Amino acid sequence: MKLWGGRFQKSTAPEVEDFHSSLSFDRRLYRQDIQGSIAHARMLATVGLITQEEAGRIIRSLEEILADMEAGRVEFDPANEDIHMQIEKLLTERIGDAGKKLHTGRSRNDQVALDLRLYLREEIKALDALLAGLQETLLDLAEAHLETIMPGYTHLQRAQPVTLAHHLMAYFEMFLRDRGRLADCLKRLNFSPLGAGALAGTTLPLDREMTARELGFDGICPNSLDAVSDRDFAVEFLAAGSLIMVHLSRLAEEIVLWSTREFGFAELDDAYSTGSSMMPQKKNPDVAELVRGKTGRVFGHLLGLLTVLKGLPLSYNKDLQEDKEAVFDAVDTVKACLTVFTPMLKTLKFNKEAMYRAAAEDFSLATDLAEYLVQRGVPFREAHAVVGRLVRYCLDEGKSLADLSLEEMRSFSPLFDPGVLECLRPEASVARRRLPGGPAPETVRQAINHARKIMSAKNNYRGGGF
Ligand code: ARG
Repeated sequence: MKLWGGRFQKSTAPEVEDFHSSLSFDRRLYRQDIQGSIAHARMLATVGLITQEEAGRIIRSLEEILADMEAGRVEFDPANEDIHMQIEKLLTERIGDAGKKLHTGRSRNDQVALDLRLYLREEIKALDALLAGLQETLLDLAEAHLETIMPGYTHLQRAQPVTLAHHLMAYFEMFLRDRGRLADCLKRLNFSPLGAGALAGTTLPLDREMTARELGFDGICPNSLDAVSDRDFAVEFLAAGSLIMVHLSRLAEEIVLWSTREFGFAELDDAYSTGSSMMPQKKNPDVAELVRGKTGRVFGHLLGLLTVLKGLPLSYNKDLQEDKEAVFDAVDTVKACLTVFTPMLKTLKFNKEAMYRAAAEDFSLATDLAEYLVQRGVPFREAHAVVGRLVRYCLDEGKSLADLSLEEMRSFSPLFDPGVLECLRPEASVARRRLPGGPAPETVRQAINHARKIMSAKNNYRGGGF
C-alpha cells in the first residue's frame, strides 16, 4: 500500500504511476535526502518527539541504506513514487515502528526543497572549482602570450591590434563574474526550509534552527508557504549556468573560427578534435561546436523553469517536480563542458605569425595615425578625415599603410614626420595602449598579477565568496 493510502479506496491507475513518479530522476538526491533525515531525526529526539534510542536506530539504519545505495545494492521501485518515499519505505522495512516516526512534522514538500538546496550547494562548489581551473589555464596562456600580437575585431572586421594575452584575459573576467554569480546564488540559497511542513508548519514543537545549524545553513526560510514553493534559487542557478554557457560558447566560437584555414590562428590538439567519416583530410572542432550547441539546453531549462513557476498559486504544487530534471541536466551539461574545455584550451597551439600578419596588414593602425595627428594639434574629427582619405588612396593604389612613403603621407598632412613610421608597427601601437584595462604588455602583466592575487586569496573574488 502507498504510504499515503489511508483515505483511498482504489489503487492508482498504472499510467498515473508512471506519469507522476519522479524516482527515475530524483533518486540522484538520495545522499541529500538521507543527510536531511538524519538531522531531522536528531532534532526529533532533542525536542522529545522520539526517544534517543529510536533516533539512534533510525540514524544507523539510514547510514546503512546510504551505504547500500552507494554500493548499488538497493533496488529502486518505481511504485515508490519518489526518492523520499523510497528511503522511508526501506527504513520502515528494516527497523519497523521507529522508522514510521521519522516523518513526524515533516512533508515531502519541505523535504524536497531541502534536498534540492543541499544538492545545489555541493554542485555550486564543484562548478566553482572547475571555473577556477579554467581561469588558471587562461592566466597561464596569457602569461605566455603577453607579446603575441593579434588583430582585435569589431563586427568581425579587423579593427585595432591587441595581444592574445589581452584577448584571453577578457574571458578571465567573464568567468570571474560567473563565479561571483554562483557565490551570490549560494548566499540566498543557504536557508533551511525544514519545519515548514506541507505548507503551514506543524503543531509539534520542532526546532527549525537546530536542523538548519546541523545542515550548515545560515538560517531558516522565514515563511513556511514560501519555504515549500520557492524555487528562485534554482532559477538563479540556471541563470548563472546560462551565462557560464554564453561565455564558453563565445570562446568556443572563436576557437572554431581561429582553427579555420581562413583565419589559421590556432590548431586544436588531435586529442581534442575529430575527423570525418568520408573526407580523409578533415580535422574538425567538434568539441568546441558541441559546447556551443549545448548552450541551448541550459537556456531552455532556465526558460522552462521560469514558465513552470509563472502563475503557480501558493504553495506547493506538483508542477514543482519539474524543477529537478532541468537543474540536473543543467548541472551535468555545464560540468561536462567545463571538464572538456579546459584541456582543449590548454593544448591549443597558436600560430603567432599568422596572428601578427593579420594585425600588420590591412588598416588596423589607421586609428593610431589619426591619434598621431591629434598629438600634433589636429582636432580628432579632422585627423579622422585625413586618415580616411589616406586609406582611400591606399585602396585605390592597392597598397597597405606600411607601403606608404613619408612623402606620400605628407601629401595628406605636412604634420606627418619620420616618427610616424614607428606608429605603423603593431607592437609599438599595442605598447602605447597603456591605460588601465588596455592591451600593452606591461598593463596586461599587471592585470595578470592582480588576477593571480585574486585567485590565491581564497573566498575573495570580486562579487562575493563562499
Ligand atoms: N516528488 C515530489 C517533487 O519532486 C516531492 C514532493 C511531493 N509532494 C507531494 N505532496 N506530492 O516535487
